[in-house]
Formats: sequence, C-alpha cells, structure tokens
Amino acid sequence: MTERTAVAIVGAGPAGLLLSHLLDRAGIASIVIESRSREEVETTIRAGILEQGTVEILRETGASDRVTTTGSRHDGIELRFEGEGHRIDFAASVGRGVWLYPQHEVLKDLIAARTAAGQDLRFGVRAVAVEDAETERPRVIATGPDGERIEIEADVVVGSDGSRGVTRETVTGSHGGFYREYPFAWFGVLCEAPPSAEELIYSNSPDGFALISQRSATVQRMYFQCDPDEDPERFSERELWDILQARVPGTTLNEGPIFQRDVLRFRSFVAHRLRRGRVVLVGDAAHTVPPTGAKGMNLAVADVVLLADALRALLHERDERLLDAYPERALARIWKAQHFSWWMTSMLHVAPDASDFDRRRQVGELRSVVESEHGRAYLAEAYTGWPLAR
Ligand code: DHB
Repeated sequence: MTERTAVAIVGAGPAGLLLSHLLDRAGIASIVIESRSREEVETTIRAGILEQGTVEILRETGASDRVTTTGSRHDGIELRFEGEGHRIDFAASVGRGVWLYPQHEVLKDLIAARTAAGQDLRFGVRAVAVEDAETERPRVIATGPDGERIEIEADVVVGSDGSRGVTRETVTGSHGGFYREYPFAWFGVLCEAPPSAEELIYSNSPDGFALISQRSATVQRMYFQCDPDEDPERFSERELWDILQARVPGTTLNEGPIFQRDVLRFRSFVAHRLRRGRVVLVGDAAHTVPPTGAKGMNLAVADVVLLADALRALLHERDERLLDAYPERALARIWKAQHFSWWMTSMLHVAPDASDFDRRRQVGELRSVVESEHGRAYLAEAYTGWPLAR
C-alpha cells in the first residue's frame, strides 16, 4: 500500500522535527520517519550551544519554552592561550548572545510538541531508497519495525537523515561533495562537577586544544584534541584530568567523577547538490562542520527556515521560485559557517606536524583577534549567528 502526504521527511533530528513543526503551522501535512528509537534520539549526547536566532525560532513558534527557562544565556566566551584568558564579549561587540541548552533537550521538546500536535512521527522506520526524484510524486521506500515494507508518496521528500543517511546519494548521485579531513579528533568527557568558569573556555596550548563547556550547575562537558584513532578507554580518570589541566594553563578545573567518555571524529563536508527535482537535503545530510564553534545544529535550523518558506510557496501557491533558489540561498550561509568552523578549528588546534613557525604564527593570529575590536566582533558575530532569512 502506498501512503500519501504533502512532505515526506526522512530523519527526526533537529532539522526534520523543526521542519514538520514549521510546516504544520503553515497548514502543510508531513510524515516523519526515523530509523532510531525515540529513546536513542532523546539520549544521544551532542553539542550544547544555540545561536540567538535558533532560540528565537524555537520560542516564537512554540517549539520550546524550556530553551530559555532551563537553558542559560551566555554573553561571551574565553579564548585562552600562552597561559592567559581573553574574554570575547558578545553583548558588547554585537549586542547578541547564545544559549547553553543541550541538543538532546531540544529534541525532547520538539518530539513532545510534535506528538502533542498529532504529528505522524514514526520511530524504528528505516528509509532504504528514494525513487522518482525527478517527478512530481517522489517516493520514500522504507522498512518498518517488523520488517514490513512502507511506501510514502509525497509532493516533496526532504532528506534530514544526517551524514550517513540514504537521501544524500539520491540527490548527489555519484558526485559526493567538497570535503576536508583533519588530523585530530575530540576526546569528550562528562563529569560530575560544577562549571570551572562562568563561560566556556576555548584553549590553545602547546599540548593541543581543549574546550571547557558545561551542561548544568553540577555537570561539566569537556573536550580535548586527540588522535582520531584514540581508544576512549586507554586513560585512567587521573590521566584524563592531567591532560585537561595541562591544556588550560593558568586556570584550575573543578574535578569530579567522569561518567562518560567518547571520541568524536569530524570533517568539513558540503554536498555538491542540495536538490534533485523534488528531493531536497537539509542539515547534516547536506553538510557537516568540525565542532569548534558549535555550528552544526544551528546551520540545520537555518536551512529549515529557508526550506519551510520555499515549501509554503510551492504547496500553497504553486510557486517554485523559492524552491529553485533554496540551494544557492542555503549555500551562502553554509560556506560562511564552513569557514568559521574551519577557522576556529585551525586557529585553536595544534596539527601533529606543526613547526615552530606554525605555532608562533598561530599565537599571532589569536592575538590579532583578541587585541582588535574588529577581530573580536567578527568572532562574536559568527558565533552568535548571522541573521536568519525570515
Ligand atoms: C559544546 C560543543 C561545541 O562544539 C562548542 O563549540 C561549544 C560547546 C558543548 O558540547 O557544550
């Protein structure tokens, strides 16, 4: 049996869920399928920083109040190098801020809101193919929790199924994308201890990068640069603390039991095409960024804001111009975010083959940022997020 809907959304991450929410507000029906279980989606630990525009969308459209009641506003970060901290004051530089609110909490809020609104949202359903992309009736072929075949025909299929999903290949064919690898990864830990500082610390040290972030008044999230093939179980807790402490010279970390550790590999990637006929990519299906600067989920939200407008025009007014313009409009921001994420990463990490020249140049670069009103303002503007197209 073939089911029918206006928009078939593959993937219930932030992009897919927010899109179904914005479409519903515009009176457009959708079906969202997700291969993982609800529990897995709601508990997988991801990044924690939301741009001001992301927060405004979540609040103004009724997707989440908790983002500002439970989350906390941050008006700056610290860049630390050569044993000294330098504050980048977002409020003073650009009059904007960010919110610390973990991505899995955003997902819980979105799933609760969609469920309460009666959204057709199906977990444990794995897309296996997208067919007829170049017709007005594209179809998603999927497998249900009991192995049953599911076929959904729609006006538009949206691929929000992440960097390992099946929709990307439908859109790009054999063309793949533009990408860049990095010779390091992040070792992430969660520990039971209050934040070591009021704001996040991004630290460059001779031993490599570390980021001291937070989750709550009692839990810290921290990362340090490691080898991409590092074994997360190789270090004792004491060794992890010694590594972290050594990478934030001049400051003292609050220590406590480490209850989670993971190695996060990353790369920069942008698909060669974001649309083929009536199949469109958003979020990590279209692009991934290295984590430094926390652009990943925020970029997905920016794609979705553009696409929701385009789908409204297409499905309510039969006007295809915004859909035609979607790739170019989305890519303008995607490449700015790619640049910012690459820049933060390369400025703060130490490449395994870095020479003395490279090290000294890097400190020069950091000084050019923190000692310049304009340098600080560029960082603040990009970090808090460029305005959304609304
Ligand atoms: C976090 C992750 C990031 O990549 C970042 O730039 C800031 C914070 C986090 O997980 O808290």
